[in-house]
Amino acid sequence: MTSSLRLIQASRLSEGAGVTVHRTIGTPALRTLDPFLMLDHFNSNRADDYIAGFPDHPHRGFVTFTYLLEGHMLHRDSMGHEGDLVTGGAQWMKAARGVIHSEMPQQTEGRMSGFQLWINLPAREKLSDPEYREILPEQIPRLREGNAEIRLLAGSWAGHEGALTDPLTHLLYADITLPPQGALTLPEGLLAGRSAFLYGIEGTFRASGTEVPPETLAVVATPHSPFPGDLRLSTESAPSRLILVTGRPIGEPVAAYGPFVMNTREEIERAIDDYRNNRFV
Ligand code: CO
Repeated sequence: MTSSLRLIQASRLSEGAGVTVHRTIGTPALRTLDPFLMLDHFNSNRADDYIAGFPDHPHRGFVTFTYLLEGHMLHRDSMGHEGDLVTGGAQWMKAARGVIHSEMPQQTEGRMSGFQLWINLPAREKLSDPEYREILPEQIPRLREGNAEIRLLAGSWAGHEGALTDPLTHLLYADITLPPQGALTLPEGLLAGRSAFLYGIEGTFRASGTEVPPETLAVVATPHSPFPGDLRLSTESAPSRLILVTGRPIGEPVAAYGPFVMNTREEIERAIDDYRNNRFV
């Protein structure tokens, strides 16, 4: 059976000290996709679009997951971590009760492209200890399913474990390349009880009858509308690269203010107060 997927066009915004990002989750068209709070795609070969980077800024109440498709960034945080993020690498940061960090480009020319995803935490974890994990490109398992190649950054796929297992967010994050005339059917159960989306990086692909162009998000499943049956991805005469991301909905109220995402207004006021009074570190 086929059912058409909802497509979300990205909104172009300036973030950090002036980095151009293309946002899909976290816009009026798609406020949240529980547990996902925000998805930014950055992709430019113009230094002006990325050179200013993301100087010191705080986060509280959720996880950030950054995947660098191309480029070189340096992460520094208030836990004392310093992480080199290079082409094909990723970074998982559980901000929880509070992290201040910077993410700065280590290049002055060439392409910088990648994604930053914000994943919510359940209330009981929002004020837990922060954690940081760097995922090197060579630590990401590569699977072959038919003629598709899958880089499994997080979660499990048909018995294979990704580079990261996160029992808090139940994140599945896969970078999928389909050749011309490519086809991939997601394993049964992969979408059960999950929110899910696809995002096109290069080339157009089809997802259960819906054509998804590059730089577009396709909503596959939400907490209120699970995906019916098997999801089939395919290409025609051109190859395509995309990401598939799924997570288990949390189903709790969301109170958000900039980089703070809690459950109530009072907790947001507390976050602002804690940050202003240097209680994040
Ligand atoms: Co940040």
